Amino acid sequence: MKGKHIVLGITGGIAAYKSVMLLRLLIKSGAEVQVVMTPSAKEFVSPVTFASLSSKPVVSEFFTANSGEWHSHVDLGLWADLMVVAPATASTIGKMANGIADNMLVTTYLSAKEDVMVAPAMDLDMWNHPGTQRNIATLEKDGVIIVQPGSGELASGLEGKGRMAEPQEILEEIKKYFNKRKDLSGLKAMVTAGPTYENIDPVRFIGNYSSGKMGYEVARELDERGAEVTLISGPVNLPVPSDSIKKIEVVSAQEMYTEAKKIFDENQIAVFAAAVADYAPVEVAENKIKRENQEEMTITLKRNPDIAASLGALKKGQTTVGFALETQNELENAKRKLHDKNFDIIVLNSMQHPQAGFMKDTNKVTIINQNGEIEDFDVKSKRAVAKDIVDAIKKWREND
Ligand code: C5P
Repeated sequence: MKGKHIVLGITGGIAAYKSVMLLRLLIKSGAEVQVVMTPSAKEFVSPVTFASLSSKPVVSEFFTANSGEWHSHVDLGLWADLMVVAPATASTIGKMANGIADNMLVTTYLSAKEDVMVAPAMDLDMWNHPGTQRNIATLEKDGVIIVQPGSGELASGLEGKGRMAEPQEILEEIKKYFNKRKDLSGLKAMVTAGPTYENIDPVRFIGNYSSGKMGYEVARELDERGAEVTLISGPVNLPVPSDSIKKIEVVSAQEMYTEAKKIFDENQIAVFAAAVADYAPVEVAENKIKRENQEEMTITLKRNPDIAASLGALKKGQTTVGFALETQNELENAKRKLHDKNFDIIVLNSMQHPQAGFMKDTNKVTIINQNGEIEDFDVKSKRAVAKDIVDAIKKWREND
């Protein structure tokens, strides 16, 4: 934790007194902490307490009243290696989920470049309310890490879920976050993503609805955890998740294969997330094909290379991961594919679930490895699924 920059956001809940201890623990573990308080948080604990413990003035307003000094939420957002909001009231969670930037804390959140962790604290009915749960789900989808509240006696005198996690637990989550983050340093990883387009003539192609989201999220996660990532991407409408990811743009399966083959040897991890067209037209017409006076037309197709299977056969210690999208005998087919393409790990996308699949932001997967271990996951954001996949890669490499 030494030297880590943490923005500690404090909102107006009775659990704010526990954040004094959290700040103390963070400082003791070597972090540099900047406290940001909402106006109502100051009703619960004096900013002087936090300022003394962090050796930094607390930021709460956009301007210092007497000097007019401007506090830049953008600079704070850039400075932070992690922002932790503890306690997070239902109100602040709602503002964060909806981008309501009416105080320093939420503007800092919206400017934060790195991850954000939230430790909710509220009464059990507020926690269980569909409005709160919807906002929590939105934050999770946006990549915010939620430190779940505990159950027990609440300030209201009621018993139930809603009390903020204990400072020590939050500290453990923060430590885990930083330790986990760079656990792939020194490794090279390649990811294929998106669809491929197989040209018919200069203006038409055979393609598919893959958005590339799953592959891009895997690339982001590998990069965040320290791997040197090359993303070989078919045509998609997505920004590269990080400047440190090298992107190679391709259009057809053949091009994707050529690029993947060139770099396979130098990578220790290869994730095949692309939805590669199985067939391509034998001939690509030089000019736009004219509509003739005929009811039917035929395009003859030839088989494309199976990128994953071809490279899987050349494996020299790489950990390879593939995806399977099955409509029948899901598990059996995924296991067969794992074997046939020599994958170490296969990610089975559930077709049965309405929130899973192409073009969606969520996915429901089962992860299977060569040892026959099977892990079923709930519906999650693709970003959270990417974390599970990279965890599985890490675990496999440790045990292999
Ligand atoms: O055989 P199927 O297309 O279902 O296999 C899916 C897995 O194989 C995915 O990981 C996909 O990226 C990879 N694949 C490939 N090249 C192909 C077809 C599939 O790399 N031509």
